[in-house]
Amino acid sequence: MINNQLQQIILKFLSTTKSKGTYLETGFLHGDSVQAALNLGFNNVISIEINKKFVEAGEKRFYEEIKQKKVKIYLGDSSKMIKKLFGKKISIIFLDAHGYYNEGNKDKEIAPLEQELKFIIRNLGENQMLIVDDYIKIKHSFLFAQGDWKSRFSNKELKNIISNQKILSFELPYKSNSYLILTKNKKFKLSLFFRLNIFFKYIFYITFYLEFFKLFTFHNFRRKPKRTSP
Ligand SMILES: C[S@@+](CC[C@H](N)C(=O)[O-])C[C@H]1O[C@@H](n2cnc3c(N)ncnc32)[C@H](O)[C@@H]1O
Repeated sequence: MINNQLQQIILKFLSTTKSKGTYLETGFLHGDSVQAALNLGFNNVISIEINKKFVEAGEKRFYEEIKQKKVKIYLGDSSKMIKKLFGKKISIIFLDAHGYYNEGNKDKEIAPLEQELKFIIRNLGENQMLIVDDYIKIKHSFLFAQGDWKSRFSNKELKNIISNQKILSFELPYKSNSYLILTKNKKFKLSLFFRLNIFFKYIFYITFYLEFFKLFTFHNFRRKPKRTSP
């Protein structure tokens, strides 16, 4: 999902590059982020999806755009396909192929993030921005272990990879989730207003999580009252 604030950041980033370039994403699902990319004015949108049913439905939804060669949906495992499709023309890379949507596929295939990141961060050019959706789930993976979150990538590993490269990185919170945004572009800067906005969102979500933790621990560790005989 690409929300309004992320759209503004993408537009700000594109204003520092000479051309709009290509938008590349992993994880198509129903194509809402592809639609957001089209709304942002991209004329080249590429999406990689492992589930054939989603690809077929997407080809119907974007029939016109595919005919006009604005959109291309590839069927396959993004951790492998991204290596073939990645190139200098790509300006925005949106990694969103996480979560459990593929009964029958191997765990390795439904958790491509580690492979994707290792490859992209090593090859990231100055005019490219990398966005990782669901970053909060990487940061606090233990909280999401019981749900549909299947990425086995740890935040420590991610930080190790980032620290070996000269990369500007920041987290953008939204609702109960966040994006991780990475770029090597030195011309890209966020205004003070934008940074303050992010800071206050952080405070808001930290308060939210503290409340969540309180509830969680209260619920799990509450002592059961001793039964008293009638
Ligand atoms: C969170 S959804 C994507 C949502 C979409 N980007 C949007 O904003 O509407 C994740 C999608 O990734 C797909 N997926 C999971 N593992 C994948 C893999 N290894 N390669 C490609 N797609 C994958 C799932 O089938 C699912 O459709």
